[in-house]
Amino acid sequence: MLHDTIAHALNQQILLEGQSSHTYLTMAVWAETQGFDGVAEFLYAHSEEEREHMLKLMRFVNERGGIAQVPTVEAGPTEYGGLKEVFESILAHETKVTESINHVVDVCLQAKDYTTHHFMQWYVSEQIEEEGLARRILDKLALAGNDQGALYLFDRDILSFQTPAQGSHAG
Ligand code: FEO
Repeated sequence: MLHDTIAHALNQQILLEGQSSHTYLTMAVWAETQGFDGVAEFLYAHSEEEREHMLKLMRFVNERGGIAQVPTVEAGPTEYGGLKEVFESILAHETKVTESINHVVDVCLQAKDYTTHHFMQWYVSEQIEEEGLARRILDKLALAGNDQGALYLFDRDILSFQTPAQGSHAG
């Protein structure tokens, strides 16, 4: 049976993963309507991954005797000044997610819930990849600058920026 503090921390994480999925979705719509089809594809796929992160947590909570809360997500921004702004907000968001996961891990240790602690290690590793990917993409965008030709190539090639592991796993 999950301790109340653990169930609460996991439900907060479920909410954040649901918000992540929603945020990537609004970004995907923005990218697609700006003509960045590759970026849109990347963001739609990432939105799905975040939904998988949420579902994996929900199933764990339910299996352990808690009740997963289906989150009500808030609408995020729908307008962006450019690709750099999109990926800067992704990095800021993923940094926030990492902090939240570290908090859950902390709560597990305090409650001596080693089962949930073990389960959360997948998320700890995932965040290293997610932050790393956002940084790599921002580096490439910095190289492209405002060069339209370079941005065209960036959009064409973005799906290849993921490591094989990032492209294949989703929870
Ligand atoms: Fe599931 Fe990008 O955090």
